[in-house]
Amino acid sequence: MKHLLVTGGCGFIGSNFVRYWLGQHPESRVVVYDKLTYAGRRENLADLWDSPNLSLVVGDIGDLELVGRTCQNHQIDLIVNFAAETHVDQSILGPLVFTDTNVRGTHVLLEVARELNIRLHHISTDEVYGHIADEHQSLETDNLAPRSPYAASKAAADQLVQAYAITYGLPVTITRGANNVGPYQYPEKAVPLFATNAILGEAIPVYGDGLQMRDYAHVHDHCTGIEAVLLRGVVGEVYNVGTGKEMTNLEMVDIVLDTLGQSHDLVRHVTDRPGHDRRYSMNVDKLRALGWQPKYDPKQAVAEAAKWYAQNRAWWEPIRSGEFRAYYEQQYAERLAKT
Ligand code: NAD
Ligand code: TYD
Repeated sequence: MKHLLVTGGCGFIGSNFVRYWLGQHPESRVVVYDKLTYAGRRENLADLWDSPNLSLVVGDIGDLELVGRTCQNHQIDLIVNFAAETHVDQSILGPLVFTDTNVRGTHVLLEVARELNIRLHHISTDEVYGHIADEHQSLETDNLAPRSPYAASKAAADQLVQAYAITYGLPVTITRGANNVGPYQYPEKAVPLFATNAILGEAIPVYGDGLQMRDYAHVHDHCTGIEAVLLRGVVGEVYNVGTGKEMTNLEMVDIVLDTLGQSHDLVRHVTDRPGHDRRYSMNVDKLRALGWQPKYDPKQAVAEAAKWYAQNRAWWEPIRSGEFRAYYEQQYAERLAKT
């Protein structure tokens, strides 16, 4: 595992992983392969592009020829697949690209890995389990029951990866991550949206009653979890990565507002997301058995993330004042007007 192809390495979790991995494994070489969609930003790795150990190939994971040539040119021995369309609300507005990237794109990576006999680690999500009943915590062996176009595309990819292990004996591993928070998360997702709105003194749009439950895990702990699986995990296996704890969205909003010293009067309950999953929660004992444990509990993770947005306005202000505006209007103008 000296020559890594990190797909989606300019996105939120991918860029955190690249920074973490190169810090821990300076002998490695990393090629980031990224289409640079709205969510993929070169500046997420601005401090590292001069490193001789890091390079960027701009391309689509659905491009079989370019993925294959890149893997051959760089003698890749491990593909870590973060590349995806990732936002549930965007998948409700425009679902087809989710199938193109998340399903077909992952399938192309599997074909290249099969052809060149490369290990592949796939980043999946707790959303593949669907929303789950109180008290249950999803186990890796649970059936997948996705309920949004995003989750369905991720479940299809997850199952294709497992099918390649069974059918072709491809050396694969999968991690299913909880909701991540931390530096460089695009402000369409709840925690960075709420933090940046709070800093700007704008309304905080909480869907429905705000009692949905999520495990807000710090992205650092996701990176260490992936590392644990890459170094010590059993090939062919799936591992959940989260804290195993959860909170309601209203509790998350309270932490964001208190951390930033902003008024709770900013909260607005708006029309709910269609098919909104009520609760995600995963059992993470299998990953813990590899010697991994999270550094942050969800409360600390959300507070740390909110602080990062207060301290890094230069990163998000250009995003919020640019292309993001049109999406924000489409998603929230009518909802907020009704409150
Ligand atoms: P992100 O949206 O911030 O980044 C996605 C990256 O993939 C971007 O750099 C984008 O340019 C790139 N990309 C998109 N389509 C591509 C394509 N066709 N070819 C090449 N690159 C492409 O996403 P994220 O939050 O960092 O999520 C990374 C992975 O982790 C995804 O697979 C996601 O499903 C999974 N995941 C995310 C979370 C979360 O809370 N954010 C939780 C669990 C799992
Ligand atoms: P999000 O960050 O989109 O992640 P996911 O839907 O994949 O879990 O949303 C986290 C939670 O916050 C989820 O229950 C939906 C809710 N939410 C809101 O209440 N308002 C918002 O504007 C957004 C984006 C999310």
